[in-house]
Amino acid sequence: MLKGRKAVVTGSSRGIGKAIALELGKNGADLAIIYSGDEKGAMLTKKEAEAFGVKANIYKCNVADYSMVEKVSKDIVEDLGSIDILVNNAGIVRDTLIMRMSKEAFDDVIDVNLKGAFYFIKCLSRYLLKSPYGRIINISSVSGMMGNPGQANYSASKAGLIGLTKTAAKEFGSRKVTVNAIAPGFIDTDMTANIKEIVEPLLDTAVSLKRIGKPEDIANLALFLASDMASYITGEIIKVDGGLYI
Ligand code: NAI
Repeated sequence: MLKGRKAVVTGSSRGIGKAIALELGKNGADLAIIYSGDEKGAMLTKKEAEAFGVKANIYKCNVADYSMVEKVSKDIVEDLGSIDILVNNAGIVRDTLIMRMSKEAFDDVIDVNLKGAFYFIKCLSRYLLKSPYGRIINISSVSGMMGNPGQANYSASKAGLIGLTKTAAKEFGSRKVTVNAIAPGFIDTDMTANIKEIVEPLLDTAVSLKRIGKPEDIANLALFLASDMASYITGEIIKVDGGLYI
């Protein structure tokens, strides 16, 4: 489905990013696996992807550091030759109520979740615009659509990604590059493992399908959006949340 295409996935050493990288790799895409600290995790993603017969390189990069993103973008293009797919998945949480939230906690989350995505779009856009199959997929959140107490920083960053997605879709559309966002609900990863006591009761009361999502539930949509089947879909924010926000 994606044979010969080149995909960059940020934060793909674990969780949703890893599932997306492996799904794209399973379907033939060569991969740039971006990680910030967890080299072991990134190596594991690489190894699992290579078992599908694709090229998979790892790159250490803090997405919140513009000069690092600029340098790594150049390295990726040198190594892979071109870029067709960018998945902005790297994200963090620093949850607390507004009255207790420090300026640093607000800035950190905006820097990684929102500015990091902008930096990668900016640095890779001229290569994506040259691709006949250019795709940008941003991982937002239902928190950016509904708001969520304790997540002023996070929901602002994820709402910001929605604006970024729609603007990029309008700017890049004439070059056939599609730009879409996925808004996950509760997904079973390390990010939600720390708040199990909050998530578990909500599965029964707030999630229509009464279960937590799997990283693969997000990866399936990412594959569809990256494929030729989605070439007429752009500027969309698609929820994958089991009916949490209807
Ligand atoms: P996770 O915490 O398991 O993975 C996040 C990944 O981002 C890790 O690989 C981490 O190393 C990487 N990362 C963090 N800061 C980085 C930085 N500065 N530079 C480069 N990489 C960095 O989380 P999960 O659940 O896999 O989340 C993936 C994305 O999905 C995030 O954007 C998150 O906000 C979003 N999401 C997750 C939901 C969930 O329920 N798990 C719900 C809605 C959205």
